[in-house]
Amino acid sequence: MPPSALPDGDPAPADGALPSTALAALAAGGGLAAYVHVPFCRVRCGYCDFNTYAPGDLTGPGASTVTYAAALRAEVALAERVLAPAGRPSLETVFVGGGTPTLLPAADLVGLLAALRARWPLAAGAEVTTEANPDSVTPDALAALAVGGFTRISLGMQSVVPHVLATLDRTHDPANVARAVAAAARAGLDVSLDLIYGTPGESLDDWRASVETAISLAPQHISAYALVVEEGTRMAAAVRRGEITAPDDDDAAEKYELADRLLSEAGYGWYEVSNWARPGHECRHNLTYWRGGDWWGFGPGAHSHVGGVRWWNLRHPGSYAARLTAGGSPAAGRETLTPAQRADEAILLRSRLRDGLPVDALPSEGRCALPGLVADGLIEPDGLVEPDRQPDGHPNGSRPRRVVLTLRGRLLADGVVRRLLGLAG
Ligand SMILES: C[S@@+](CC[C@H](N)C(=O)[O-])C[C@H]1O[C@@H](n2cnc3c(N)ncnc32)[C@H](O)[C@@H]1O
Ligand code: SF4
Repeated sequence: MPPSALPDGDPAPADGALPSTALAALAAGGGLAAYVHVPFCRVRCGYCDFNTYAPGDLTGPGASTVTYAAALRAEVALAERVLAPAGRPSLETVFVGGGTPTLLPAADLVGLLAALRARWPLAAGAEVTTEANPDSVTPDALAALAVGGFTRISLGMQSVVPHVLATLDRTHDPANVARAVAAAARAGLDVSLDLIYGTPGESLDDWRASVETAISLAPQHISAYALVVEEGTRMAAAVRRGEITAPDDDDAAEKYELADRLLSEAGYGWYEVSNWARPGHECRHNLTYWRGGDWWGFGPGAHSHVGGVRWWNLRHPGSYAARLTAGGSPAAGRETLTPAQRADEAILLRSRLRDGLPVDALPSEGRCALPGLVADGLIEPDGLVEPDRQPDGHPNGSRPRRVVLTLRGRLLADGVVRRLLGLAG
């Protein structure tokens, strides 16, 4: 997901060139992931601050669903030039997100995938996902995506309860979620559903109905996000005016615990604080972000990371397209992460994973915090014990001791991270 605001950073070179150290790291690493941002939605939901635009918000080249694919293809050509010294790393995952990618014709999405595959070989068993709004997919479009190489669709379901959907300004008919899931399954696509909890006015029973309905549709993967009232959105204005109440932490915790119980009873294991999957169906693309892998983010506002260099594109689709038309890189800024920054990021992201964070990756203050975190019930005591046997029964070779959050730790993950970084007592 693209963040709403871009960081400060150093100017990016006009031709997008990367340092040879970053390219060497990519060449030596485990392949490349591609994120493609599609910044269009039929209407803006009142809570969402993603970099996305409704019809009429934009004018000019690259600023419409008709001309946008051409701008993306120009960035693909730029990436080919920039990454050439790293050889041809294989594409392990592709994720088309938004916005609402399925507002583009399926042929455009398949054409974009083909443009990527023409430059970098798609790895055997690669995961290729598109996000979609339940109203924006037809059985024919889903079948065309599957034939064109997509393997997975992630649908924004959010809730099954009409008054909750109305507060979220969601325009989709809840019945369309079941139709879209059935059509995706018929097409042979894996399905992920996004849910949001903590919407003002949502009761615990409303939330239970949403989770139970999502489970009954039998997707391979479910994400559940706590509603965040983002500054500058219509929802933030409604909270300020007192028309709706802001989400409450205790309510969110109760809903998280309920979701975790229902999902795990139904065979979905948590593998990241907000993500559950049937075994083997974890989102490999998002795991690449969380594990500090290499990816190129195409499109306005998209972020990229290759070998410790991070950059981000201009946010406005018109300015983004104009840069590419002029033959330059659309990057707005970039930074080279120091070893200390990379270590802190690893703690921030990996501690949220079921797989956990190797204890060796912690600074000494973080290691000192471990007994207190166990005593407070925030991390699993077992993870800290050197196992004799690996989970598959083989004698333990070098599996390091790991920090793994408990359920309570997942609810208080930000505080745990501060203690692991040595920032809080
Ligand atoms: C790009 S959208 C998914 C696809 C499509 N645009 C849709 O909404 O149906 C990604 C997901 O981010 C989540 N999201 C967006 N804004 C959020 C917010 N303010 N708080 C919590 N979750 C949010 C929603 O669950 C949404 O499905
Ligand atoms: S459809 Fe998705 S991306 Fe578009 S405004 Fe709504 S939540 Fe945001």
